Amino acid sequence: MKALGSDADSDRNPDPAPVITIDGPSGSGKGTIARAVARQLGWTWLDSGALYRLVGLAGQRAGLSAHDEQAHARLAQGLSVRFTASPDGEDEVWFEGRNWAGDLRDEAVGRLASQVAAWPLVRAALIDLQRAFKRPPGLVADGRDMGSALFPDANLKIFLTASVEERARRRYKQLKDKGLDVSLADLSRDIQERDQRDSTRAASPLRQSDDALLIDSTSRDVGQIVKQILTVAQCRGLMGPSLVG
Ligand code: C5P
Repeated sequence: MKALGSDADSDRNPDPAPVITIDGPSGSGKGTIARAVARQLGWTWLDSGALYRLVGLAGQRAGLSAHDEQAHARLAQGLSVRFTASPDGEDEVWFEGRNWAGDLRDEAVGRLASQVAAWPLVRAALIDLQRAFKRPPGLVADGRDMGSALFPDANLKIFLTASVEERARRRYKQLKDKGLDVSLADLSRDIQERDQRDSTRAASPLRQSDDALLIDSTSRDVGQIVKQILTVAQCRGLMGPSLVG
């Protein structure tokens, strides 16, 4: 892994678009943490899971067969998507003139995403789109294979995990807060199935890169983890000292 500021070359030529990757299983908190780190740094945030969710949902709404890898890959290839935030800070995902963010968080869409994400043609079709998010002043990318496949030279790689029970509890609380009727046992089973599919598929399975820093978020809050990541980023010369509060 390249550590900025650690050698004479990088001192002379600081990376104009450094990358922090945050990979991990469903419910580990990587989306929340990646968004917070990106906001603190003023960098771009790539929520790569949203792309797979969008391909799954848009494919379903377009009537594509759930078994048609090629048709989903064509959809992924031409995907023209824009991520923005509303004035009150809500994430927005714009596709075909509409904000899909609300629909994408649905549990059923997560399952669809995990199915289309196992197809190599779909993964290949999304590579250029994801890499285009790397631009100055920097990128925080979260997903399953950001550090292992998409950005192997990232300046800082994090692998974020948490116990299955804790991840199911977090999801349960989120959905209950939205007024949805869900069962903790169902969520726990769903998370384990997705872990299994994501980590055993042939194409870019979920795995910790050798050079990734492992963080277990089971009994830690978001603020502590964000601070830890910013501190490491600062040690690697990716940012000025003033951002770690
Ligand atoms: O992270 P999120 O839960 O939104 O991702 C939805 C699904 O998309 C995951 O279960 C995983 O199968 C897939 N995914 C992936 N590679 C990524 C991001 C997400 O395979 N980089």
